[in-house]
Amino acid sequence: MNPPLVFALPGNEAFAEAIARELKAGFGTAVVRRFPDGETYVRLETDVSEREVVLVCTLHQPDDKVIPLVMLAEAARDLGASSVGLVAPYLAYMRQDKRFHSGEGITSVYFGRFMSRVLDWLVTVDPHLHRHSTLAESGYTIPTRVVHAAPAVADWIRSHVENPVLVGPDSESEQWVEAVAKLACAPHLVLEKIRRGDREVEVSVPNVEEFKDHTPVLVDDIISTSRTMVETLRHLVDADMAPAICVGIHPVFSGDGLRVLEQAAPALIVSCDTIPHPTNEIPLASVLAVAVTEVLSGDQTAG
Ligand code: R5P
Repeated sequence: MNPPLVFALPGNEAFAEAIARELKAGFGTAVVRRFPDGETYVRLETDVSEREVVLVCTLHQPDDKVIPLVMLAEAARDLGASSVGLVAPYLAYMRQDKRFHSGEGITSVYFGRFMSRVLDWLVTVDPHLHRHSTLAESGYTIPTRVVHAAPAVADWIRSHVENPVLVGPDSESEQWVEAVAKLACAPHLVLEKIRRGDREVEVSVPNVEEFKDHTPVLVDDIISTSRTMVETLRHLVDADMAPAICVGIHPVFSGDGLRVLEQAAPALIVSCDTIPHPTNEIPLASVLAVAVTEVLSGDQTAG
């Protein structure tokens, strides 16, 4: 049987090539561009008939990416691909997982249902599962695999940080902070956060006294506006802790997020490469490739 064929959506070429190398798969080429009126044009230049197609597209700022992704997936299917799956190192639309105010849409579930109509399977890294504990609960009806960044983040901490204490900014972060701390054989603290608006966050004063001789390593799944990291950093600075390291699994960095974080306090900022960004230090293509192999072989355990 022919090996799978990997295609990159624009901006995902380096990650897609790394996945193709790991999978020993073919690397297909496609033209994806806009017509002058803003509509999307797609053309597959590699024959996909009877091939397992692996699309690679990270989904921060998703609304501009989703139509090209859907068009490419549909074209591949139309041209005879035996299956069409997606590696989305960052999966969008995971945060509006409940109706916070009357009349709001629960967009995480709508997006899951929509993607399930277009794709045969999905592989992603630590999606922001909060009130839903699985992607199936979040509307996905196709096979999915969730890759955890914790082992790679823990390896990075072990080889770069002396005497770390891991700090999670809020209870939502506890799941990955605890996992990373265990793997890095380091202690951890989890703070309390109250979000007062999109760009307004308050974090409780942590009891950090006993960790004064440690290097604080803040770990969060997403760094977006950076307000969560900045508030947490402020408390560490007030408590006279050593300069911190901020680790984000998904470096979304919306708007002025990076600048605000850089200006908040002297801190090293590090991220996984789920979204291309100058802070990328922790590569995840090889663990994602393992998950792709498993899903293609029909192993859907731990989805
Ligand atoms: C919370 O829901 C997430 O785990 C992150 O803490 C949050 O997305 C960070 O957002 P921001 O950088 O905008 O404070």
